Amino acid sequence: MSKITYKSCQINKACNLRKLSFKIGYSHTHFERMSRPEHKAPPEIFYNEEEARKYTSNSRIMDIQVQMCERAVELLALPDDENCMILDIGCGSGLSGQVLTEQGHIWIGIDIAKAMLDVAVERECDGDLMLGDMGQGMPFKSGTFDGAVSISALQWLCNADKTSHRPQKRLYTFFSSLFSSLTRSARAVFQFYPENGEQIELITSQAMKAGFFGGLVVDYPNSAKAKKYFLVLMTGGSVELPQAMGTDAAENSRIAYSKKREIAKQARGKPLKKSREWILAKKERRRRQGKETREDTKYTGRRRPCKF
Ligand SMILES: C[S@@+](CC[C@H](N)C(=O)[O-])C[C@H]1O[C@@H](n2cnc3c(N)ncnc32)[C@H](O)[C@@H]1O
Repeated sequence: MSKITYKSCQINKACNLRKLSFKIGYSHTHFERMSRPEHKAPPEIFYNEEEARKYTSNSRIMDIQVQMCERAVELLALPDDENCMILDIGCGSGLSGQVLTEQGHIWIGIDIAKAMLDVAVERECDGDLMLGDMGQGMPFKSGTFDGAVSISALQWLCNADKTSHRPQKRLYTFFSSLFSSLTRSARAVFQFYPENGEQIELITSQAMKAGFFGGLVVDYPNSAKAKKYFLVLMTGGSVELPQAMGTDAAENSRIAYSKKREIAKQARGKPLKKSREWILAKKERRRRQGKETREDTKYTGRRRPCKF
């Protein structure tokens, strides 16, 4: 049974900036912006009881979160066969923590939304849970964690939900406290949804200022759907960043697409491109057009052995 440490945290229910934008009226950009959860309400209000339940019963969301956390753990590059102590930042209802448990690690999760943590308790997550705002810093002793993961949470810190919020300052407070709570050979991996280049710049600059090395790994950069941003931070010095996945995705999808087209053609009764039937038909067309064309032989359309 999980132990919950509900650290006191101030929750401001007013959402002045967003109310104001409603009053001003809607623009196209406004609608685009409002499709992101972090533009609808502060996290502790957006993830209310209803949303927390909906989130944790949607099998598509669950699959995606689990996959992204598995990738984040891979990027952590933890020592083989060791049970490590991991911090899950913005742990929510424990979907990402479940991956940590399955991989044999001990974890502590921190989240600002009580409703999400309540669902994590109901689901009997193995990690210890703490209610807290990452923008106020990580309240742990130096060197507590061998690694940290954060799935789909970091972009929330780029918003100012209260008049007192300064995203740059909150990011710095967060990263510097995280830096000290990690061991000196640890990594922290964040999967996040940046809204634009400025947010990436804001986040990475504050992480570097706090002492981290590392950078961005973008998986499937050429796929609108599969593209995923992982910020890989290191405490112990500069190490080459891991290889992104799917960097030849465009090539693969082109191959897959042309193959699909060929299969469809065959289904319509047309010969496959470069097959003997296709070549014979093409030669016949050329002859009809009066063009010089070689005679058909038993070798026409036969595959030639590779040169090398
Ligand atoms: C999309 S959910 C992801 C939850 C979990 N990591 C998963 O993979 O299912 C994002 C979580 O980030 C949390 N979050 C957002 N801003 C936060 C903050 N300032 N401090 C702590 N948690 C925050 C939200 O409450 C929410 O539970």
